[in-house]
Amino acid sequence: MNFVVLISGRGSNLEAMCKFGLADKIKCVISNSATAKGLDIAKAYGITSHVVSHAQFKQREDFEQELIKIIDNTSSQLVVLAGFKRILTDYFVNHYKNKIINIHPSLLPSFVGADAQSYALYAHVKVSGATIHYLTNVLDHGPIIAQGVVPVLANDTRSTLADRILALEHIMYPFIIYKIIKQQVEITEPFQVKVTKDSNDLNLLGTFAPVIFY
Ligand code: GRF
Repeated sequence: MNFVVLISGRGSNLEAMCKFGLADKIKCVISNSATAKGLDIAKAYGITSHVVSHAQFKQREDFEQELIKIIDNTSSQLVVLAGFKRILTDYFVNHYKNKIINIHPSLLPSFVGADAQSYALYAHVKVSGATIHYLTNVLDHGPIIAQGVVPVLANDTRSTLADRILALEHIMYPFIIYKIIKQQVEITEPFQVKVTKDSNDLNLLGTFAPVIFY
């Protein structure tokens, strides 16, 4: 199974996927920003990349149509959002029904939206984390595949909490993509996902295993 990765910026999750050994499965990287650092990562791993600037299009659907054209040309079975900062409409989501995944830096359904780490601090929660979910047309609300938990410490700033969550994302996201490729992830009911465990999982997750739930 091949996949495409949609980014807008730094691309540290993309890099984690490549370091995990998934680069040859990534058919292309698409960024909506020409200055995204993640484009350099794609280049370093020899992955084709495209820049499709949303600003060029009047309607969201026109922008998405361009994305679809590129993605469908690659015959990929999975669309991975990794820091892609555009809301996708029903048009795109329905075209890839149950084939788009996203990672969000909170324990959903808490703290949806763009600054989840700050919301967690304002709420004085004691734990936060990251959630990998299928994309639906409701923002940050799809069937949950996996969640990872980190403590929120008394002296945390947005940046220390974000870094702690990101370190976990880098372990979780490649692992779950690998499980999807192995066909060990399925949606069994509208909001229920079954991930089949196997004996190699613990080796892949290492010391993070106790904080990742899937
Ligand atoms: C991560 O925090 C992820 O949870 C969120 O966007 C950020 C992407 O970071 N969806 P990067 O571009 O992968 O470094």
